Amino acid sequence: MICKYVFGSPIETGAVVAQIQESAEDLSWMELEKTKGGIRLSCRMEDSDVVYGLGEQMRGMNKRGFTYVSDALDDAIHTESRHSLYGGHNFLILSRREQSSFGIFVDDPGRVAFDVGETQMDRLEVTAGPDCVVYFIVGESVKDIAKQFRRMIGRSYIPPKWAFGYQQSRWGYINEADVREVVRRHHGQGIPLDAVYLDIDYMEDYKDFTVDKEKFPDLAGLAGEMKEEGVHLVPIIDAGVKIEEGYPVYEEGIEEGYFCKEEDGEAFVGAVWPGKVHFPDVLNSRAREWFGGKYRGLMEQGIDGFWNDMNEPAIFYSEKNLERVMDEILAMRGENLDLHAFFHMKDILLGLSNNPEDYRSFYHDLDGVKVRHDRVHNLYGFYMTRAAAEAFGRIAPDKRTLLFSRSSYIGMHRYGGIWTGDNMSWWSHLLLSVQQMPSLNLCGILYTGSDIGGFGGDATEDLLLRWLEFAIFTPLMRNHAALGTREQEVYQFSHVEAFRRIIRIRYGLLPYLYSEYMKAALEDELYFRPLAFDYPEDAHAVKVEDQLMVGESIMAAPVYVQNATGRYVYLPEDMLLVRMRSLKERTCEVMARGHHYVEMALDEVVFFVKKGHALPLAVLDDDLLSTADLEGAAYEWISFGDGPVEYVLYEDDGISKEYTPREDWKRMTVDGR
Ligand code: NOJ
Repeated sequence: MICKYVFGSPIETGAVVAQIQESAEDLSWMELEKTKGGIRLSCRMEDSDVVYGLGEQMRGMNKRGFTYVSDALDDAIHTESRHSLYGGHNFLILSRREQSSFGIFVDDPGRVAFDVGETQMDRLEVTAGPDCVVYFIVGESVKDIAKQFRRMIGRSYIPPKWAFGYQQSRWGYINEADVREVVRRHHGQGIPLDAVYLDIDYMEDYKDFTVDKEKFPDLAGLAGEMKEEGVHLVPIIDAGVKIEEGYPVYEEGIEEGYFCKEEDGEAFVGAVWPGKVHFPDVLNSRAREWFGGKYRGLMEQGIDGFWNDMNEPAIFYSEKNLERVMDEILAMRGENLDLHAFFHMKDILLGLSNNPEDYRSFYHDLDGVKVRHDRVHNLYGFYMTRAAAEAFGRIAPDKRTLLFSRSSYIGMHRYGGIWTGDNMSWWSHLLLSVQQMPSLNLCGILYTGSDIGGFGGDATEDLLLRWLEFAIFTPLMRNHAALGTREQEVYQFSHVEAFRRIIRIRYGLLPYLYSEYMKAALEDELYFRPLAFDYPEDAHAVKVEDQLMVGESIMAAPVYVQNATGRYVYLPEDMLLVRMRSLKERTCEVMARGHHYVEMALDEVVFFVKKGHALPLAVLDDDLLSTADLEGAAYEWISFGDGPVEYVLYEDDGISKEYTPREDWKRMTVDGR
């Protein structure tokens, strides 16, 4: 059951697709208070209550004990004290033992705060509004609540199958030679690879939809050559459009009035990579169609995947603010800066970026309705991605195009995936990635993963090995790193053979991972789940923060601690431990329900199979180099049961949009013993 409450005059965000009538009854799940700025909803939490959801945020799967703020922000330092990351994912489930559990979705694209027991340990307090829609969902179980929510927000994005292959990225591949080298060194050493990413350096002076002809003289030729090898090129697109006379995107945007404007109607000037930019008003349908249409040029050169970046939108500084700060700082010249003056100087300099005042100073034209940006801030990344996805529907209507974004809001999950932004080469961020996955799935975002090895900082070989051992389960499996950090392509390290074996295990698991992804997308299910979703009666399962259910058969328990040679694992029932050094070197062992210490060597993939379940493993040729080579592969099975075990396999061509109807999914029966 879903109940809907409307406050003020909310705008249509596009998050919800189901038609839901406004509730006639009074809101009863939480106490409602109207405040000066909006609304406050609060309720008591019992000690045993658990809070799941909120998508891309810091901390654990159980969100209790902190305040999470939906206020999309470009900030690369993801520490425990951070209240906001890149998205606005305002859905949580309060899972309760004593009373009925419920889900709450606050459809408000402005700033929303979820104080999940930070101020008072036993209180949940949500502040939003004044204009917003709040939905309460009750159901038989947390799984049921999650499913009802997912139905309400519409089917999750489905990428092409090749996007489940291993992908390599780095901010710093600056020309054709760099791209060729990455492919040669992977494929040359038998390491499968399906995509190489082009970061901002491929553009001419960081201008969207341009290609630097000196560095990439023949992008179409390169894309074609790469496709022959089974590798797709995936260029980045940024939100800001460079202000430059003679640059068609800028000139058209100005002429047609497609950029976000200040109060007086002048286009707002921010600055990002190219210096001064305007931001396309993607919330306006004409501007959206225009901006989306620009992807065509690259698609005509053979590009079939994109990542949308800096779309919070990130602002290094605004023209106005910079002027003011410069004046203030210049006035300090020659002064004796005491504690207050010095820190004030630092603050105003640092405060130039992503300044709330700037976000309050420009407007969108929502097809006739003028809305100040801060009221819809969290929608920008969603609508930039929607612009692209809708354009793909016009440009390449019959096939899937890879698309994911940095910033997002619930609703964007129908148009693309996300990556989790600028993490670091930290062990804690490997764990964070594990914990973010189910929270994101709850908010509809299925195609996701983190920068493997960490974006900022220098990855060590052991971190990259452990990270890959987890990332073989994430739909997006991309190694990405920042300019100036240690090169972290797997071939840069000494145990290349171990990396090769691990990445090949991903390809072996692909029939399972892809089937489970498709089931999750087509049936509004969760691909990643906290243990408690599958074992709600188990008092231990609910406490487990570092293990995950992956699809219907697998439980993952990654190592995320440096120098550990294994870890404690909790088994909520008897399970089959599967230990793989490679696809061929595999051992299986039945383990009893309970707590175990399990040895896990640095170069091993270890996972667990649920009782009564099975999974297919593709038998790979030794020379498999990309997902294209998986075509027609035979399967072996890993299964665990007392007798015959059933598995439903999803198979399609991986590219067209005609998803196989359920009755045609392949029902396989294997011997579980
Ligand atoms: C920020 C993105 O998060 C990162 O992945 C990218 O490499 C840089 N922008 C440069 O484009």
